[in-house]
Amino acid sequence: MRLGPLTLASNLFLSPLAGYTNLPFRLTVRELGGVGLATTDLVNARSLLEKKAKALKLIETSPADRPLAVQLFGSVPEEMRDAAAYLESLGIASADINMGCPVRKVCRVGGGSAMMTELDKTARLVKGMVNAVRIPITAKMRLGWDEEDITAPDLARALEDVGVSAVFVHGRTREQGFSGSVNLAGIRAVVQALKTVPVIGNGDVTTPEAAKVMIEQTGCAGVSIGRGAFYNPWIFQHTRHYLETGELLPEPSFEERVRVMCRHLDLMIEVFGEAHGCRMFRKVAPWHAKRFGPAKEFNTRVVLVSSRAHFYEILAHYRRWRQQFLDEAGELKPRFRPPPMTASFMQAPGAAPHGHITVPKGPVEVW
Ligand SMILES: Cc1cc2nc3c(=O)[nH]c(=O)nc-3n(C[C@H](O)[C@H](O)[C@H](O)COP(=O)(O)O)c2cc1C
Repeated sequence: MRLGPLTLASNLFLSPLAGYTNLPFRLTVRELGGVGLATTDLVNARSLLEKKAKALKLIETSPADRPLAVQLFGSVPEEMRDAAAYLESLGIASADINMGCPVRKVCRVGGGSAMMTELDKTARLVKGMVNAVRIPITAKMRLGWDEEDITAPDLARALEDVGVSAVFVHGRTREQGFSGSVNLAGIRAVVQALKTVPVIGNGDVTTPEAAKVMIEQTGCAGVSIGRGAFYNPWIFQHTRHYLETGELLPEPSFEERVRVMCRHLDLMIEVFGEAHGCRMFRKVAPWHAKRFGPAKEFNTRVVLVSSRAHFYEILAHYRRWRQQFLDEAGELKPRFRPPPMTASFMQAPGAAPHGHITVPKGPVEVW
């Protein structure tokens, strides 16, 4: 997979998840393999230029965290340009632009010309960034505001003309938030709108099969995975294996899941210190536990975790409590096993939604 001048080890990308895709999580998934490029949480371009401590922490990286893209957020062309140049000077591999949904409903009310003005404005901003650096500039967008206002193909074409290296598309509209199904036809329309620039599909990829279906049905060059990486940090390695060989690797065992969760916590403590790292882990640990089977006793306690030793006490208690759900071989009894994950776009039409991923709280307008 090529991204401008970069050659990536796979066509699988870690999506930005504000509050989660920090250095410890990126290292955790990278150690398991298969990631082509990982991205930071979104970073405000102005805060970065002002060297605000919070912004600098968001771009903290290490030699094992390569190649790394930083996602920038901002609407002042000079700030976005200078922030991209700053990232390049730091050795960051690529800069992504957060376009959550850049063409707002007001533009639609203003009619086509207002929309084109907005597209022109966005294209000029991106052109300023592309011209200022040698690293790839990419853009991440949704399909559009709502079903009547699908702007991603036009926007992507305008960005291709000014030299972006890839376009990431979450196959939902702004209005959809995280509900409903990811629209593969919508992603395909973006692929078809572009001549040379690769499109990376995104949304609800929770299994290797879902990645394959998205690639085959949209023609996208790769997929970007966000929440699925929390349920299953092995998803990149397993998907790469599946795409290359057609073989599905077995789901990781409980012990392997626990090992990776503990590794994640250690990295959190290394990067953020014990007290803060543990506090941050309170919202992260329940994601790891989603495939543990019954996990109430773990989740209610881990949201209070205050130290590494406390975490291990919680885990030991949970292991004892979990025994009741196990058979003689130490495996979860069938009725306690979590159901298989199913991407929204792979469910039979009319079927009640099942196996879907949790909908997060947060500022959807910038995602
Ligand atoms: C908690 C959370 C934080 C997110 N933060 C960002 C962000 O900072 N920038 C962005 O472009 N998208 C953000 N997104 C959107 C994801 O990158 C992705 O497009 C979306 O979750 C769909 O992919 P998924 O189904 O694989 O998670 C966020 C999503 C979630 C759930």
